[in-house]
Amino acid sequence: MMKVLIAGGAGYIGSTVASACLDAGISPVILDSLVTGRREFTSGRVFYQGDIADGALVDRIFAEHPDIGAVIHCAALIVVPDSVADPVGYYRANVTKSLEFVAHLLRNGCGRLIFSSSAAFYRAGADLTVDEDSVIDPQSPYARTKAVCEAMFADIAASQPIRVLSLRYFNPVGADPKMRTGLQLARPTHALGKMITAQQDGVPFVITGTDWPTRDGTGLRDYVHVQDLATAHVAALRRFDALPGPATAINLGTGTGTTVRELLAAFNRVAGPVQVREAGRRPGDAAGACSRIDRAERLLGWRPQYDLAEGIGHSLQWAALREEILPG
Ligand SMILES: NC(=O)c1ccc[n+]([C@@H]2O[C@H](COP(=O)([O-])OP(=O)(O)OC[C@H]3O[C@@H](n4cnc5c(N)ncnc54)[C@H](O)[C@@H]3O)[C@@H](O)[C@H]2O)c1
Repeated sequence: MMKVLIAGGAGYIGSTVASACLDAGISPVILDSLVTGRREFTSGRVFYQGDIADGALVDRIFAEHPDIGAVIHCAALIVVPDSVADPVGYYRANVTKSLEFVAHLLRNGCGRLIFSSSAAFYRAGADLTVDEDSVIDPQSPYARTKAVCEAMFADIAASQPIRVLSLRYFNPVGADPKMRTGLQLARPTHALGKMITAQQDGVPFVITGTDWPTRDGTGLRDYVHVQDLATAHVAALRRFDALPGPATAINLGTGTGTTVRELLAAFNRVAGPVQVREAGRRPGDAAGACSRIDRAERLLGWRPQYDLAEGIGHSLQWAALREEILPG
């Protein structure tokens, strides 16, 4: 059985990846500091609490699990406004610690790294689609930490015995379909999370920006089910050695853009009506983009299986269960 180290495996995406690995017969070893992750998401799983930059801990993990064949690196801080307010903290957490982590992996002879990157750093063309060769133009320190890490890993992979696959996620929605894990936050700040809390609280959902250059003026995103993201990692582990270069990047999206109004319509169909209020753009926002997904299909043999309604349904189901699974 293949073993994989998942850094950040107690977080939203990492825990879903760990579940998908278990379901596929791959055994995960989780390393997480619990800075935003949850101990509950590691229950029954091999878990080391600590920091990715802690070399002694990483050495111990590899000594105790010499059969680890690959690493999935999902450990990061991810809140865009926080990265604007505290760029030093974000570069330290996401760049400095990632550099230390890779040095620890090299020392332990680990040659396969899958990195959680983000589509947040693309500049979209006029048609609001992007592929892996689109212009990289990060609009926040958070997004730039992802671009810097990708470049840094590519430089390292060019001459060191490690190969890197950067998976650029679009906008994850949903939860583990078996409801083992989901978003930790009670009040998530992305559009779907805000719709759910608006409905729970009986207050209007606020559309921020109705004059974007999209088909209905509202922001466009590519909502991809978190379970589909997770199965892409399983596919990537299986196909890793056939990837074309020492450093490869692949977009993980659905290929379909959804505007805020379209998301609202889908939400209303699944969850019933929610009040709506329109407001101006928020500073730092963009029209958004969706992915072209040919490369994921070609290199990973992966296509998303869940549609938006299922993502919304699983998010709602998780929101109802969350308190019970994550008390406090
Ligand atoms: N959620 C999104 O919308 C999104 C989109 C694109 C990319 N990503 C990337 O996916 C990855 C996972 O994101 P998520 O949404 O699951 O966030 P999350 O906060 O739920 O998960 C991150 C996990 O990493 C852990 N962690 C952070 N710093 C650490 C460190 N130094 N050492 C050990 N553990 C540490 C946290 O405790 C947490 O469990 C991140 O790299 C993020 O940048 C997320």
